[in-house]
Amino acid sequence: MRLNLLSERGPMKTHHTIIAVAFLLLAGSSSAFAADAAKGGTLYAQRCAMCHGDKGAGDGPVAATIPEGMKPRNLTAEYKYATDDAKFKELLQKGGAGVGLSPLMPAQSDLKPEDLDNIIAFVKTLKK
Ligand code: HEC
Repeated sequence: MRLNLLSERGPMKTHHTIIAVAFLLLAGSSSAFAADAAKGGTLYAQRCAMCHGDKGAGDGPVAATIPEGMKPRNLTAEYKYATDDAKFKELLQKGGAGVGLSPLMPAQSDLKPEDLDNIIAFVKTLKK
């Protein structure tokens, strides 16, 4: 509905409107989970991106060293085991080996449960 406003304005005003709309969208989502997802994003960058890639495509620098057929998953696509939050958390607590997946997927058992929730919230933002 907001987008209708854009077409009736000049280029500068449109620009400002786009910024305002982007700001509103960010502010709106923060009440749901952005704060947690932001924290999770920091942990993701430190612990996951080297394998799963910055955007979750499975193309981090370490992924290049892992043989075909054993590659890190594309996190924006379907999962084999971590199909809900509880199973995703279990995967992070036990590692791939603990849930019947590849032992190359490392456990994050040193993290607090809320850190795991934050990571899960962040990974969801990578899904299309
Ligand atoms: C050393 C590389 C590596 C790191 C680091 C890593 N992963 Fe993985 N991950 C893998 C591999 C390999 C698989 C594929 C496992 C399989 O298919 O058996 C995988 C699979 C997954 C899956 C798919 C599980 C399923 O049910 O299909 C998720 C979700 C995931 N990783 C999340 C993460 C998160 C979140 C982090 C950071 C906390 C992380 N991974 C860190 C290598 C890694």
